Amino acid sequence: MSDVLILAFESSCDETSVAVVKNGREVLSNIIATQIKSHQRFGGVVPEVASRHHVEQIIHCTKLALKEAQVDYQDLAAVAVTYGPGLVGSLLIGLMAAKAISWAHDLPLIGVNHLAGHIYAANLVAEIKYPALALVVSGGHTELVYVKAAGEFEILGDTRDDAVGEAYDKVGRMLGISYPAGKTIDQWAHEGKDTYNFPRAMLHENNLNFSFSGIKSAVINTLHHAEQVGISINKKDVATSFQNDILDILLAKTQKALHKYPVQQLIVAGGVAANSGLRERLQQELANQVELIFPPLRLCGDNAAMIGAYAYIKYQKNQFASLTLNADPSLDF
Ligand code: KG4
Ligand code: ZN
Repeated sequence: MSDVLILAFESSCDETSVAVVKNGREVLSNIIATQIKSHQRFGGVVPEVASRHHVEQIIHCTKLALKEAQVDYQDLAAVAVTYGPGLVGSLLIGLMAAKAISWAHDLPLIGVNHLAGHIYAANLVAEIKYPALALVVSGGHTELVYVKAAGEFEILGDTRDDAVGEAYDKVGRMLGISYPAGKTIDQWAHEGKDTYNFPRAMLHENNLNFSFSGIKSAVINTLHHAEQVGISINKKDVATSFQNDILDILLAKTQKALHKYPVQQLIVAGGVAANSGLRERLQQELANQVELIFPPLRLCGDNAAMIGAYAYIKYQKNQFASLTLNADPSLDF
């Protein structure tokens, strides 16, 4: 069989990305235009600003992705695009671009779930062995997902309130760190002392769900209180305590999931998978039980190569979309 080249689009949040992926496993190009600078002064992603940037960037990114991969439209087997979950205005820009190319070049269209994309970033660095377990941790998601077979997902647990990356970003804002704060908190966490005991919600509950709004509020209250009574606080100690508590929760729930659903592989996916503390603790505590797959940092954050990786699974199953495919901001598995 000849190689299957898929042109993939990702525009669900604040990264415009276009990639060419070969046979769902090999990245030929993965152009990522980040808008972080434009959102920083607002302390988070502003949907309207995000959509405008996607409009400005998407054609340029498409040209670059094709050029870098050294392919032309006639070499492609399909066009893939994230259609949810995400910001509706942002998703629509990727959808419009993908549909236009699908129609103009008579290429089949594949709609991809953004979370499935994050999980299948694993196939770009290793080969997923089913059933596998995935811990998806990002700015919008905190989920434990059982991947029964290719393209078959079951959500075992998710967050009842904030996503883990969201908690990092909100705590970071209080610590005076610009958006997105995860990377800096992670660095500080290695430099401070574990001084505070913040609540580790749902840690001992017998389910696989998460809750991070309590820990976020506790950190904010600690900082407010210190300011009111005039105590100086070492921000790095706050970062260390916060990160350790977050990691305790992520590790405990992942252990619980592995116990209930024995698998060979644990895939760690999403932007927070870049966290060095998380990587260290998973290595220390789980590497003897399960094969750990951490995509490299560039494939952990939002990118189109992961969308092309999952699209290949749908391509093999002939799961194509029509040109009426719409954005679904709260798409589930
Ligand atoms: O997957 P992603 O790029 O976008 C979403 O789909 O949300 O994840 C972005 C999130 C942000 O909340 C950011 O603060 C967090 O990932 N993040 C980190 C680290 N690097 C990025 N969180 C903790 N530690 C890090 N090293
Ligand atoms: Zn994401």
